[in-house]
Amino acid sequence: MSGSPLRGKTILFGVCGSIAAFKAAGWVSALRQEGAQVHVVLTAAAARFVTPLTFAALSGNPAHENMFAAGMEHISLPAAADAVLIAPATAQTIARLAQGFADDLLSASVLACSAPVLICPAMNARMLAHPATQRNLAALREYGYRIAEPDCGRLACGEEGAGRLVEWDTAREALLGLLAKQDLAGERVLITAGPTQEPLDPARFLSNRSSGKMGYALARTARRRGAEVTLVSGPVALAPPPDMNVVSVRTALEMAEAVSRHAQTASIVVKAAAVADFRAAAFSAQKIKKTAIEPLLALAANPDILAALGSRRRTDQLLIGFAAESGGHEAEGRRKLLAKNADLIVVNDILGSSTGFEADTNQITLITRDSSETLELLSKEETADRIWDKALSLLQERKAAGAETTA
Ligand code: PMT
Repeated sequence: MSGSPLRGKTILFGVCGSIAAFKAAGWVSALRQEGAQVHVVLTAAAARFVTPLTFAALSGNPAHENMFAAGMEHISLPAAADAVLIAPATAQTIARLAQGFADDLLSASVLACSAPVLICPAMNARMLAHPATQRNLAALREYGYRIAEPDCGRLACGEEGAGRLVEWDTAREALLGLLAKQDLAGERVLITAGPTQEPLDPARFLSNRSSGKMGYALARTARRRGAEVTLVSGPVALAPPPDMNVVSVRTALEMAEAVSRHAQTASIVVKAAAVADFRAAAFSAQKIKKTAIEPLLALAANPDILAALGSRRRTDQLLIGFAAESGGHEAEGRRKLLAKNADLIVVNDILGSSTGFEADTNQITLITRDSSETLELLSKEETADRIWDKALSLLQERKAAGAETTA
């Protein structure tokens, strides 16, 4: 497993003179821990907040600030970069980049760089809202730079408002989006993830071991590859991924309703959630006393959401289901593919400790009507990327078949 998608990538990391510069130190460390090569360029103002020595120690590379040092860093640094990340980006540096200035190492490096650029602004709310700053940010968007819109909240000046540097998870996903092939751009993807909980009384419920990791990996990787993502999630301990529509549900009936609402406009649907097949026949509004618990629980069947989608889906929609199996994997996967009218079933074993529920890794078999392919053990994000690769090839095949019939 190669692990992080950032492994081996070279990031030119610009730091500007904001109190949020201390957060950039943590970001540099996080990038290095994921195996990225980080070259830090500070503005003169940034060095007044955090020293170059700090960034040199964290990145393992010399930190640069002087435009007139020995080498031609303003050419060599951007030439080696896979992406440029500027965080925090001050109003001053945003204005200089918008105007194409090149009189300090950071602005000259960006001007000489052909790699994608991610700008993470941080400043007082009124400075951010000022027409000059907004015009400069618009100019950067016109250049094709990606802007990670600042968060709202308490600012260093003590005021509340927009202007907080985004969280690292948001910046990381935006950076990965800059590095990923945008081959899902234009696709509207609906993903379900996690377990459902079927309450018996106010204290007890039926559920399963799904952590949501597989579905959240599918959502994150689809967003990086340019898709518009709606994630319908059962109760999990994972943070909602940034930059997508997350719909939280609890029961299978709530999941069915949310899926029904969003499936009609989705071009690809992936059902990674572990939906409970049954719920209590009757919910007890009072906690059931131990002495009153029946040895046999009366259950009612939940709707099969995937089968319902398969029975009424658009012909141009790609429908992908999962199969959680403890045996007869290929036969069960193929049975579900046909029974639920899916285009692809992703089979995973739930007995192993490194596959299926809760694991950070998975080993899947991809089953279509005319193929079966078992992958190697991968991280769930790498597994998700391979599922998207398969989905894209199915869409290509469908497009080619359609072209033949109309030819
Ligand atoms: O969340 P993790 O901890 O990362 O674990 C990942 C996973 C094991 C949950 C995931 O990889 C997985 O296998 N998800 C499907 C689990 C499941 O419900 O499989 P199944 O074989 O019981 O159902 C087959 C398909 O029908 C699934 O796409 C499921 O979403 C769907 N289904 C099932 C029952 C139901 N009432 N409605 C459904 O839509």
